[in-house]
Amino acid sequence: MTLYDLVVPGLDRDPRYRIADIRAADPLGADALLAAVPAMNADADVAALTVALRALVPDLDRAAEWSVADALAAMRDLGILLGSLKRHGVQPVAAVPEVLPVLELIGRRTDMVPRDTVHHYTAWNPAGTRRRTYTGHVMEAQLQESVRMAFPGLVAALDDCARIARLEPYDPGFALALDRTARLVRTIVDAIDVTVANVSPEYFARTLRPYFEEIDVDGRDYLGPAASQVPLWLVDLTLWQCDRSHADYDAFLADSLPYALPSWRAFHARHSGGVSAVSKLSAAISWESVERLPPQLAASARSLARVLRILKSFRARHFTLARKAYRDDLRLYDQGSGGAPVALLRSILDLTRDNETLVRRAGA
Ligand code: HEM
Repeated sequence: MTLYDLVVPGLDRDPRYRIADIRAADPLGADALLAAVPAMNADADVAALTVALRALVPDLDRAAEWSVADALAAMRDLGILLGSLKRHGVQPVAAVPEVLPVLELIGRRTDMVPRDTVHHYTAWNPAGTRRRTYTGHVMEAQLQESVRMAFPGLVAALDDCARIARLEPYDPGFALALDRTARLVRTIVDAIDVTVANVSPEYFARTLRPYFEEIDVDGRDYLGPAASQVPLWLVDLTLWQCDRSHADYDAFLADSLPYALPSWRAFHARHSGGVSAVSKLSAAISWESVERLPPQLAASARSLARVLRILKSFRARHFTLARKAYRDDLRLYDQGSGGAPVALLRSILDLTRDNETLVRRAGA
């Protein structure tokens, strides 16, 4: 399933969700050149990578005429060369200064950061022979596919999360929206299982991770494509994070926000000052007589606990995976590609577990 296959009313009005169009687009005529990038990377051929980036830089007038889909595809393709040059110790914008106005123009045109993100690298990346990769390795493609499979369910869940934010726990719609959310977010657990089965911690730590380093764009560092940018944090936001978080997770989200799609940033702005589902439920319950809750409240508690259990399950498996890939004798970096250490994953897992434990008491 792809985002494109999802039936979420109105979703395809945003060109960023016209996944098939973006994947098909090759506005820089980069197919053949990008197919050669894995070999350039294997040889650490900085000269060839620099020439390749320079060759792809389009005329600014032409770039200004692009559709949003073409602009996103162009950023995806430039991005593979930006990350490749940085992996070999070269700041790409310093090496090819003429790319700067193009990155800035595409950033403005698409209302996103002036470099590629995880969306460019996974959801908007074509499959098959046109797939853009740094290494050409099957494990890189597997990681891209794992992240890609998490998107549709999470995006669709945002509709239900917005509904949950408008409802109270004694409303039957509250539990219904949570049950739909549970079905939709389950794919993120599958995504981690697929990663564990197909991507070795050694390959990730030693070969792939260096391509995700930040680059300097006009005096500001921008992170590379990081799986942490999938919109799980927006599901957290409405369920518990908006009023039951921790300073470290808040700071991480503040740093991650610029890498989100515009509609997700708007979702965040709408809900960040709200009352979370866990807090609403907690306030509606009289804890002294928790074993005699009205049936609808108990049903809401059970549904909420079910979603939180799925998030906990994802986080427990993901934490184990991340710990292996960032163990002392393997890692080349202290921080993940999203800019945070593995310790943050432990504290987000603990927060998720604490909220689930609280809600489970009411629904048991
Ligand atoms: C080898 C594979 C992976 C490793 C080593 C890894 C490692 C990490 C690390 C160290 C972080 C901390 C923040 C940061 O990015 O700097 C993180 C965050 C995160 N990663 Fe991964 N990750 C992997 C694969 C995935 C996949 C396949 C997904 C989802 C499909 C994913 C989703 C997330 C999310 C949502 C966060 C934010 C924290 C949270 O919500 O718990 N990761 N990852």
